[in-house]
Amino acid sequence: MESERIEIPYEDCNNQGRIFSLANRLGHDMNTYARRYMKSKFVAQGKDFDYSYYQIASPSYSLDLVDEAELHEEGARTDGISNDEAYWIGFFYKYFALSLSLTNEQAWEKIPFDRMRAFYAEYGAASKETAGEEMAKILRKEMTAGKPHVVILATGGTIAGSAPSAASVIGYRAGVLNVDEMLAAVPELADVADVRGETICAIDSKDMTDEIWLRLTACVNELLASDDADGVVIAHGTDTLEETAYFLQLTVKSDRPVVLTGAMRPATALSADGPMNLLDAARVAVSKEAAGKGVLVVMNGEIHSAREVTKTRTLGVDAFGSPVLGCLGTVDAGVPVFYRTPSRRHTTQSEFTAASLPRVDILYGHAGDDGALADACVRAGAKGIVYAGMGNGSIPADVEKALINAAKEGVAVVRASRGMGGTAVSAEPSYDAAGFIASDTLSPQKARVLLRLALAKTNDVKELRRIFQEY
Ligand code: SIN
Repeated sequence: MESERIEIPYEDCNNQGRIFSLANRLGHDMNTYARRYMKSKFVAQGKDFDYSYYQIASPSYSLDLVDEAELHEEGARTDGISNDEAYWIGFFYKYFALSLSLTNEQAWEKIPFDRMRAFYAEYGAASKETAGEEMAKILRKEMTAGKPHVVILATGGTIAGSAPSAASVIGYRAGVLNVDEMLAAVPELADVADVRGETICAIDSKDMTDEIWLRLTACVNELLASDDADGVVIAHGTDTLEETAYFLQLTVKSDRPVVLTGAMRPATALSADGPMNLLDAARVAVSKEAAGKGVLVVMNGEIHSAREVTKTRTLGVDAFGSPVLGCLGTVDAGVPVFYRTPSRRHTTQSEFTAASLPRVDILYGHAGDDGALADACVRAGAKGIVYAGMGNGSIPADVEKALINAAKEGVAVVRASRGMGGTAVSAEPSYDAAGFIASDTLSPQKARVLLRLALAKTNDVKELRRIFQEY
């Protein structure tokens, strides 16, 4: 079966440039020419030219077939272009394909060979290494004229994960792919926006730190205050994605869209979900309706508010939900549609700035809890404790005693619920008298984010209660 997909290995710049130049001279597109060239090599070796085999075996097999010397001889005979020029033209095509997130074929279609030669003549001779960058800027500007600018910030996670086999969805390494590789896997991004990538970190998100949060929020604020980004997408591991999203919801000072996304299957998996999630996230990031709605999370075709969303499943691509209030909208068939708007304060209405954050611990309530860990938190220097209590934030009697003592020592105590859905509201008069604060619909991990930012400003219980009612 004849395949239309021909891989010219990026490493093979010299030959690639030569194939480009020869194809152009002979009036063929690169694919047709490369196929013809490969076929002649197969035939010369007495083999049948089997396109399906070629497709599977390339690029390494096709590299073996290219006889560089012969290719250059043929090149010199046919087009009179020097090897040096052929090499740099190949290099520039490679550079453009990578930096503009294009496939080889798209780079070839978008940049005619004669134009590339003209670029080489104008910039190439002086400083070839930096000429690629200069040309990419010019071409990016042309190709994306009138399109919104989206910056994709990579932080690691499964979306950038690599597994030993396409069937593996566990036991992989998170954060292996670099941001350019992630973008190159989704060339359709270029139809949505002028997209470029930056790397913040490359971690498994269980290892998220305050330092990275502060750097991330500073980067997002800087990008959105400039003309460089109409929206920002953050590719993140799913395990702490909801906490980062809520931290940004409270510390980003812009109405422009900030969208987090991730993946449940590594990039190397069959039916990887990352590429579609990334594309949907970019679609939301350029959507006018997304502006002013706070930080959003886009996963599996759903749009969630950073305040409500949580990871509800450990495996499976439908891993995110907003159990109490539901999602804000959907990205069905590539079109973002919003059905409601978050009403709590966020982003430009937030009073918080990212600063050094005090220690706040979370305790998970259980039958027979004796309060020993609450005492341990105080000894460890916690300025706040979030108790993930039973039902409506109920606290066993022994733990209540320990938390009352903690509150007397100036530690802020927030009652949340270990239940997935519902609200922790004011319950026992003794809780109110002790100065405990109800988390409202915030999960324990979100309540911790809010309490840390709040405690950086005040430890007045009345103020803290106001904050938990307003955010
Ligand atoms: C991570 O959170 O970094 C690993 C898990 C994931 O992204 O799904």
